[in-house]
Amino acid sequence: MTRSALAVLGFAAAVLPAAPAAAQVAAAPNGIELPAGYRDWRVIASSHREDNKTLRVILGNDAAIAAARAGNTNPWPDGSVLAKLVWKDGRHAAWESAIVPEAFVHAEFMIKDSKRFADTGGWGFARWKGMAQTPYGENAEFVQECFGCHLPVKDNDYVFTHPAMLP
Ligand code: HEC
Repeated sequence: MTRSALAVLGFAAAVLPAAPAAAQVAAAPNGIELPAGYRDWRVIASSHREDNKTLRVILGNDAAIAAARAGNTNPWPDGSVLAKLVWKDGRHAAWESAIVPEAFVHAEFMIKDSKRFADTGGWGFARWKGMAQTPYGENAEFVQECFGCHLPVKDNDYVFTHPAMLP
Protein backbone atom coordinates (compact mmCIF):
# COMPACT_ATOMS: atom_id res chain seq x y z
CA MET A 1 0.00 0.00 0.00
CA THR A 2 1.30 3.44 -0.86
CA ARG A 3 2.08 5.98 1.72
CA SER A 4 -0.70 8.33 0.57
CA ALA A 5 -3.30 5.48 0.71
CA LEU A 6 -2.25 4.83 4.29
CA ALA A 7 -2.56 8.51 5.05
CA VAL A 8 -6.09 8.54 3.62
CA LEU A 9 -7.05 5.50 5.73
CA GLY A 10 -5.60 7.14 8.80
CA PHE A 11 -7.58 10.27 8.09
CA ALA A 12 -10.83 8.31 7.60
CA ALA A 13 -10.31 6.49 10.91
CA ALA A 14 -9.68 9.81 12.62
CA VAL A 15 -12.83 11.48 11.32
CA LEU A 16 -15.30 8.58 11.53
CA PRO A 17 -16.05 8.87 15.26
CA ALA A 18 -17.09 12.48 14.68
CA ALA A 19 -19.79 11.45 12.17
CA PRO A 20 -23.31 12.85 12.87
CA ALA A 21 -24.49 11.44 16.18
CA ALA A 22 -28.13 11.10 15.06
CA ALA A 23 -27.53 7.67 13.50
CA GLN A 24 -26.10 6.31 16.77
CA VAL A 25 -28.95 7.62 18.94
CA ALA A 26 -31.70 5.10 19.73
CA ALA A 27 -35.20 5.87 18.41
CA ALA A 28 -37.93 6.98 20.82
CA PRO A 29 -40.29 4.18 22.05
CA ASN A 30 -42.91 5.32 19.51
CA GLY A 31 -40.45 4.77 16.63
CA ILE A 32 -39.57 8.42 16.00
CA GLU A 33 -35.90 8.89 15.07
CA LEU A 34 -33.88 11.84 16.34
CA PRO A 35 -34.35 14.46 13.60
CA ALA A 36 -31.03 14.83 11.78
CA GLY A 37 -29.43 18.24 11.66
CA TYR A 38 -31.56 19.86 14.38
CA ARG A 39 -28.47 21.57 15.82
CA ASP A 40 -28.43 23.79 12.71
CA TRP A 41 -32.11 24.77 12.75
CA ARG A 42 -33.15 28.40 13.15
CA VAL A 43 -34.74 30.08 16.14
CA ILE A 44 -38.50 30.59 16.47
CA ALA A 45 -38.57 31.79 20.08
CA SER A 46 -37.02 31.35 23.50
CA SER A 47 -38.46 30.93 26.96
CA HIS A 48 -37.42 30.80 30.58
CA ARG A 49 -39.13 28.67 33.21
CA GLU A 50 -38.90 30.25 36.63
CA ASP A 51 -40.33 27.24 38.52
CA ASN A 52 -37.61 24.78 37.46
CA LYS A 53 -34.95 27.34 36.47
CA THR A 54 -34.41 26.35 32.87
CA LEU A 55 -33.71 28.23 29.66
CA ARG A 56 -35.23 27.02 26.41
CA VAL A 57 -34.90 27.77 22.74
CA ILE A 58 -37.54 26.69 20.28
CA LEU A 59 -36.16 25.93 16.83
CA GLY A 60 -37.76 24.94 13.54
CA ASN A 61 -36.71 22.98 10.49
CA ASP A 62 -36.94 24.78 7.14
CA ALA A 63 -40.66 24.00 6.72
CA ALA A 64 -41.46 25.29 10.22
CA ILE A 65 -39.37 28.45 9.73
CA ALA A 66 -41.12 29.18 6.42
CA ALA A 67 -44.51 28.70 8.12
CA ALA A 68 -43.51 30.90 11.08
CA ARG A 69 -42.23 33.71 8.83
CA ALA A 70 -45.43 33.58 6.76
CA GLY A 71 -47.67 33.52 9.83
CA ASN A 72 -48.98 30.18 8.62
CA THR A 73 -49.01 28.42 12.00
CA ASN A 74 -52.60 27.49 12.73
CA PRO A 75 -52.40 24.78 11.69
CA TRP A 76 -48.66 24.32 11.09
CA PRO A 77 -48.24 22.62 7.67
CA ASP A 78 -47.27 18.94 7.36
CA GLY A 79 -43.48 18.58 7.37
CA SER A 80 -42.99 21.22 10.06
CA VAL A 81 -40.82 20.08 12.94
CA LEU A 82 -40.46 22.07 16.15
CA ALA A 83 -37.58 21.44 18.54
CA LYS A 84 -37.21 22.62 22.10
CA LEU A 85 -33.74 22.54 23.64
CA VAL A 86 -33.55 22.94 27.43
CA TRP A 87 -30.62 23.91 29.68
CA LYS A 88 -30.36 24.48 33.43
CA ASP A 89 -29.92 28.13 34.38
CA GLY A 90 -26.38 29.22 35.04
CA ARG A 91 -24.83 32.56 36.03
CA HIS A 92 -22.32 34.29 33.82
CA ALA A 93 -19.04 34.42 35.75
CA ALA A 94 -18.27 37.96 34.60
CA TRP A 95 -21.83 39.34 34.77
CA GLU A 96 -23.81 37.81 37.57
CA SER A 97 -27.24 39.15 36.59
CA ALA A 98 -26.98 37.34 33.24
CA ILE A 99 -28.68 33.94 33.18
CA VAL A 100 -26.93 31.67 30.70
CA PRO A 101 -27.35 28.04 29.62
CA GLU A 102 -25.52 25.51 31.79
CA ALA A 103 -26.14 21.71 31.93
CA PHE A 104 -28.04 20.36 28.92
CA VAL A 105 -31.36 18.83 30.06
CA HIS A 106 -33.06 17.52 26.94
CA ALA A 107 -34.07 18.00 23.32
CA GLU A 108 -37.69 17.40 22.42
CA PHE A 109 -39.61 17.53 19.20
CA MET A 110 -43.05 17.88 17.67
CA ILE A 111 -43.29 16.52 14.12
CA LYS A 112 -46.29 17.52 12.03
CA ASP A 113 -47.76 14.71 9.93
CA SER A 114 -51.54 14.91 10.07
CA LYS A 115 -52.02 11.35 8.75
CA ARG A 116 -49.31 9.45 10.67
CA PHE A 117 -50.04 11.18 13.97
CA ALA A 118 -53.81 11.71 13.59
CA ASP A 119 -54.44 10.34 17.12
CA THR A 120 -52.38 13.10 18.75
CA GLY A 121 -53.55 16.20 16.94
CA GLY A 122 -51.34 15.53 13.90
CA TRP A 123 -48.14 15.84 15.97
CA GLY A 124 -45.58 13.16 16.73
CA PHE A 125 -43.88 13.74 20.09
CA ALA A 126 -40.40 12.59 21.13
CA ARG A 127 -37.72 13.56 23.65
CA TRP A 128 -34.06 12.64 24.17
CA LYS A 129 -32.49 13.24 27.57
CA GLY A 130 -29.14 14.76 28.43
CA MET A 131 -25.86 14.80 26.57
CA ALA A 132 -26.21 11.01 26.08
CA GLN A 133 -29.49 11.61 24.18
CA THR A 134 -31.32 8.74 25.93
CA PRO A 135 -34.84 8.30 24.55
CA TYR A 136 -37.56 9.32 27.02
CA GLY A 137 -40.50 7.00 27.86
CA GLU A 138 -40.98 3.40 29.00
CA ASN A 139 -43.17 2.59 26.01
CA ALA A 140 -45.08 4.32 23.21
CA GLU A 141 -47.73 5.52 25.69
CA PHE A 142 -45.43 8.33 26.87
CA VAL A 143 -46.91 10.52 24.14
CA GLN A 144 -50.14 10.76 26.13
CA GLU A 145 -48.23 12.71 28.77
CA CYS A 146 -46.92 15.13 26.13
CA PHE A 147 -50.20 15.45 24.26
CA GLY A 148 -52.22 15.77 27.48
CA CYS A 149 -50.20 18.74 28.63
CA HIS A 150 -50.41 20.39 25.20
CA LEU A 151 -54.23 20.05 25.08
CA PRO A 152 -54.90 23.47 26.69
CA VAL A 153 -53.48 25.07 23.53
CA LYS A 154 -55.58 22.94 21.16
CA ASP A 155 -56.87 26.14 19.52
CA ASN A 156 -53.29 27.07 18.65
CA ASP A 157 -52.69 23.69 16.97
CA TYR A 158 -51.42 22.24 20.31
CA VAL A 159 -48.42 24.58 20.21
CA PHE A 160 -47.60 26.92 23.11
CA THR A 161 -44.89 28.90 21.32
CA HIS A 162 -45.72 32.06 19.41
CA PRO A 163 -42.92 32.98 16.99
CA ALA A 164 -40.88 35.84 18.48
CA MET A 165 -41.19 39.23 16.82
CA LEU A 166 -38.59 39.93 14.15
CA PRO A 167 -37.99 43.32 12.50
C1 HEC B 1 -46.31 19.62 32.11
C2 HEC B 1 -46.74 20.02 30.78
C3 HEC B 1 -45.98 19.57 29.56
C4 HEC B 1 -45.60 18.29 29.23
C5 HEC B 1 -45.81 17.02 30.02
C6 HEC B 1 -44.96 18.39 27.93
N1 HEC B 1 -44.95 19.68 27.49
FE1 HEC B 1 -44.11 20.36 25.77
N2 HEC B 1 -44.45 22.26 26.35
C7 HEC B 1 -45.12 22.64 27.50
C8 HEC B 1 -45.12 24.09 27.59
C9 HEC B 1 -45.78 24.93 28.69
C10 HEC B 1 -44.42 24.57 26.47
C11 HEC B 1 -44.12 26.03 26.11
C12 HEC B 1 -43.25 26.69 27.13
C13 HEC B 1 -41.82 26.29 27.02
O1 HEC B 1 -41.13 26.83 26.17
O2 HEC B 1 -41.38 25.39 27.75
C14 HEC B 1 -44.03 23.37 25.70
C15 HEC B 1 -43.37 23.43 24.50
C16 HEC B 1 -43.00 22.34 23.75
C17 HEC B 1 -42.38 22.40 22.45
C18 HEC B 1 -42.17 23.65 21.62
C19 HEC B 1 -43.45 23.91 20.81
C20 HEC B 1 -44.59 24.44 21.69
O3 HEC B 1 -45.63 23.76 21.83
O4 HEC B 1 -44.43 25.54 22.23
C21 HEC B 1 -42.11 21.10 22.08
C22 HEC B 1 -41.45 20.66 20.80
C23 HEC B 1 -42.58 20.25 23.14
N3 HEC B 1 -43.13 21.03 24.14
C24 HEC B 1 -42.49 18.87 23.12
C25 HEC B 1 -42.94 18.05 24.16
C26 HEC B 1 -42.74 16.60 24.20
C27 HEC B 1 -42.08 15.78 23.13
C28 HEC B 1 -43.29 16.17 25.38
C29 HEC B 1 -43.34 14.77 25.94
C30 HEC B 1 -42.12 14.00 25.96
C31 HEC B 1 -43.82 17.35 26.05
N4 HEC B 1 -43.61 18.46 25.28
C32 HEC B 1 -44.44 17.30 27.27
C33 HEC B 1 -45.70 21.82 28.40
C34 HEC B 1 -45.54 20.44 28.47
